[in-house]
Amino acid sequence: MLEFVLSTIFWTLAIYGLFEVIKNIIYISRFTKFNSDGIYVIIAVKNQEEKIEGFLRSILFKILYGREDYFSSYAERSGGLMNFHVLTLFPDMIEAGLHTSVTGRALKNGYIHLSAVNIRDYSKDKHKHVDDYPYGGGAGMVMQPEPIYLAYEDVTQNMEKKPRVVYVTPQGSVFNQSMAEEFSKEEDLIFLCGHYEGVDERILEEIVTDYVSIGDYVLTGGELPAMVMIDAVSRLVPGVLNNEESAEFESFHDNLLEHPQYTRPVEFRGRKVPDVLLSGH
Ligand code: ADE
Repeated sequence: MLEFVLSTIFWTLAIYGLFEVIKNIIYISRFTKFNSDGIYVIIAVKNQEEKIEGFLRSILFKILYGREDYFSSYAERSGGLMNFHVLTLFPDMIEAGLHTSVTGRALKNGYIHLSAVNIRDYSKDKHKHVDDYPYGGGAGMVMQPEPIYLAYEDVTQNMEKKPRVVYVTPQGSVFNQSMAEEFSKEEDLIFLCGHYEGVDERILEEIVTDYVSIGDYVLTGGELPAMVMIDAVSRLVPGVLNNEESAEFESFHDNLLEHPQYTRPVEFRGRKVPDVLLSGH
């Protein structure tokens, strides 16, 4: 009898351990980053319980890659695992939009960090103007380079490397999932939101690394596009989606979700859930 109990415990633990190892190998293959300064894995831990899991991941990482260039964990990073900085004239719009739903939860839990910086705060003009008439004439006003540069300098002063700066513009390359994946590898990402008729070309030449649009239509400003991109990038940052949501993400990638979804009630306005989905309920 005792032997039976012990062997049941042994096999339960062995199967559980194997399951944990497989789960963490999948995690590592998803969040291992290869870049010029080495190879590392992002280990997202935010409490004591997760630290044990983080430790297991770091051991598996060493076994898998035979090296440890560095481990980046939430505990070691200053802000979140990914820090978004938005240079804008409407910081409240950015804060309100992103402090809700999944991104709101991720901000609260510290997986991502957001700073919406008001460009107007950096204007030296006594009326806090940030725009002026265009040289050569034409309709509308152009945002001046100096307040944007001062805001950029402030945001980047403690960064170790020059960050990517995304200028959101309808003239840029159209944003897609592979761009979101590329952006999610950055530790800091700056978005510059334009308004009025545009932004002085010299500041774009000075600081911008990527020109990105969210589609072939023109909006009144760059705030909504910046929020769209931050949302798409955030969900790729470890810890932002919970386990159930990540499973959904995996199946989306495996194209398993390409069929219509149904929930209760079984019948809605004469339309029934397909029988094949009801069997087994
Ligand atoms: N600013 C205005 N319209 C835009 C768009 N479609 N994409 C990005 N930035 C914009």
